[in-house]
Amino acid sequence: MTYIPNAERYSRMQYRRCGKSGVMLPLLSLGLWHNFGDQTPFATQQAMLRTAFDNGITHFDLANNYGPPDGEAERNFGRHMDADWKPHRDELFLSTKAGYGMWAGPYGDHGSRKYLIASIDQSLKRMHVDYVDVFYHHRPDPDTPIEETMGALDQIVRSGKALYAGISNYGPEQTKRAVDELKRLGTPCLIHQPRYSMLDRHIEQGTTRVLREEGVGCIVFQPLAGGLLTGKYLNGIPEDSRMAKDGRYLKPASLTEETLGKLRALKEIADARGQKLHQMALQWVLRDEVITSALIGASRPEQILDNLEILNAPPLTEEELQKIDAIIGA
Ligand SMILES: NC(=O)c1ccc[n+]([C@@H]2O[C@H](COP(=O)([O-])OP(=O)(O)OC[C@H]3O[C@@H](n4cnc5c(N)ncnc54)[C@H](OP(=O)(O)O)[C@@H]3O)[C@@H](O)[C@H]2O)c1
Repeated sequence: MTYIPNAERYSRMQYRRCGKSGVMLPLLSLGLWHNFGDQTPFATQQAMLRTAFDNGITHFDLANNYGPPDGEAERNFGRHMDADWKPHRDELFLSTKAGYGMWAGPYGDHGSRKYLIASIDQSLKRMHVDYVDVFYHHRPDPDTPIEETMGALDQIVRSGKALYAGISNYGPEQTKRAVDELKRLGTPCLIHQPRYSMLDRHIEQGTTRVLREEGVGCIVFQPLAGGLLTGKYLNGIPEDSRMAKDGRYLKPASLTEETLGKLRALKEIADARGQKLHQMALQWVLRDEVITSALIGASRPEQILDNLEILNAPPLTEEELQKIDAIIGA
């Protein structure tokens, strides 16, 4: 059936400016790393994308290697594009990336011009789009000159295959060098995509300072630590959870007594606020406006709706923030 988006989709979502750019991003964005490969029914994927967009989530994030198998999330997204999104392309903000191993041989990994230019061409074909809004270098490559990698991003933007350039997983010094080089080339860095959650605060050790100073946006991935911060693992491993279904990245070994203790203590604060732990975790990553958007994953549409409840919640108080610091370490 033809998809007709909810007419009220922009009324509730809040949008933040991405650094000093002209781009606004929704507080929550949807990532297609998990649950958009060959193991998730097309209809479930479709329901998640529609639910997101119907509620003002305009930004969908992909990468060349999302699946499984590699490339499958982009291929599936191409099918969704044909089914639902062609008439709405200008209302969508789409990203993809290259930087991890994607094909055999010396040209399918890391940060060479050869790899990045070939990869964006492949991604556009799979996604059935003429361009993406952001193309990211997915991780720093210590062996390729930053001038070559940023030169490739600049070329991709100038050729119209992406509208903006981004970097992901770069540390503070690497970020500064990439931002400076892109500035010199005349294609400013729009956005950085690092990991950030109540269980991983590493970006507070320099990266956010650089982004603030340089006016670069920041979309943080795994704000729920892959689901740990939902509290669903407090009493074992539920059968329908990521840890049970796909233990490649979220392993039972991460359920240490130390982590479980922190999760229990954090849940008490969330309970006192009358909200769920994952809602508090999302509000926490968004508490500082240097963070433009929290990039969530989902395995079903209801989770997206549940996470969107943060739009109705009061901000975290100073006292609550201090209590959280005491639990997770400032
Ligand atoms: N740039 C990079 O290197 C990089 C790396 C990783 C991820 N990313 C991006 O970040 C996105 C998000 O990553 P992620 O999926 O690991 O993030 P996440 O938001 O920390 O975890 C998402 C998972 O948490 C569970 N969940 C979410 N909302 C829930 C709710 N309301 N109630 C119960 N469970 C809930 C679901 O797992 P269940 O299966 O248990 O239901 C869901 O798949 C990716 O899709 C990708 O776009 C980027």
